[in-house]
Amino acid sequence: MKKTILDFKAMKKKGEKITYLTAYDFPIAQLCEKAGFDMLLVGDSAGMVVHGYSGTVPMTMDQMIQHAEDVRRGAPNTFIIGDMPFLSYQLSVENAIANAGRFYKEAGVDAIKLEGGLRVVDKVRGIVDAGMNAMGHIGLTPQSSGQVGGFKAQGRTADTALEVIEDAVAIEKAGAFALLVEAVPPEVGKIITETLSIPVLGIGAGMYTDGQVLIVGDLLGLFEAFTPKFVKKYANLSEVIEKAFGEYIDDVQTSKFPEEKHCYRMVEGELDKLEGRLKEK
Ligand code: KIV
Repeated sequence: MKKTILDFKAMKKKGEKITYLTAYDFPIAQLCEKAGFDMLLVGDSAGMVVHGYSGTVPMTMDQMIQHAEDVRRGAPNTFIIGDMPFLSYQLSVENAIANAGRFYKEAGVDAIKLEGGLRVVDKVRGIVDAGMNAMGHIGLTPQSSGQVGGFKAQGRTADTALEVIEDAVAIEKAGAFALLVEAVPPEVGKIITETLSIPVLGIGAGMYTDGQVLIVGDLLGLFEAFTPKFVKKYANLSEVIEKAFGEYIDDVQTSKFPEEKHCYRMVEGELDKLEGRLKEK
């Protein structure tokens, strides 16, 4: 049965870890639902791992909605979060509500996620007041990573750690149902997790958060451009795929594929008829 935000709150209370993964398409979403993930993120990381951009900034609402629709079809009974792309929520509260609403109305998501701490509290409040579930995202925020010199860990000094903690508190106060914290030392992840009453999900935020999220291509060993420190690869699918592609090319070139068992047969007696007709011509 699909979990709700009340289930996630209860899991935090009981100390049950929340399992969270990104998904961008129908077949992976089907496998995620079968595996039993608690929640799925249709992340704007699709920009990098699906579309091949060097960052997440180019992603548009239309692209994100398409991914979210596909994931919803693949995982109808899983809690799905749509990731608000760059400039879909920064312009105004009205703009943020309208775009969060598109995710709900067009893709049937259960929540949206948006990046930023103190500077987006009015947007979080607006989206929640409009009746939607919002997850915050602080620490390393890829859409604005250019302002901090790239994809770098955050909160590694007392001053910057305090800023991240203040962001966390502000997002909870604004009404978010959960918070994603990216790329901070485990001690900072722990303080935030213990300070907030809402579930805290971590990616590169250590072992003390209420749950963990990874990018599906990283977990499966499918994304080769770079591997962040916080990734654990549970498979090496690029190796498996390369091997399969190589074997297929070889089979076609040497006529080993297709074999008899891959061929359709004519209806009994019809081949003789065909040959006869061809001769008449
Ligand atoms: O877009 C994304 O995949 C994210 C990750 C950091 C989880 O936000």
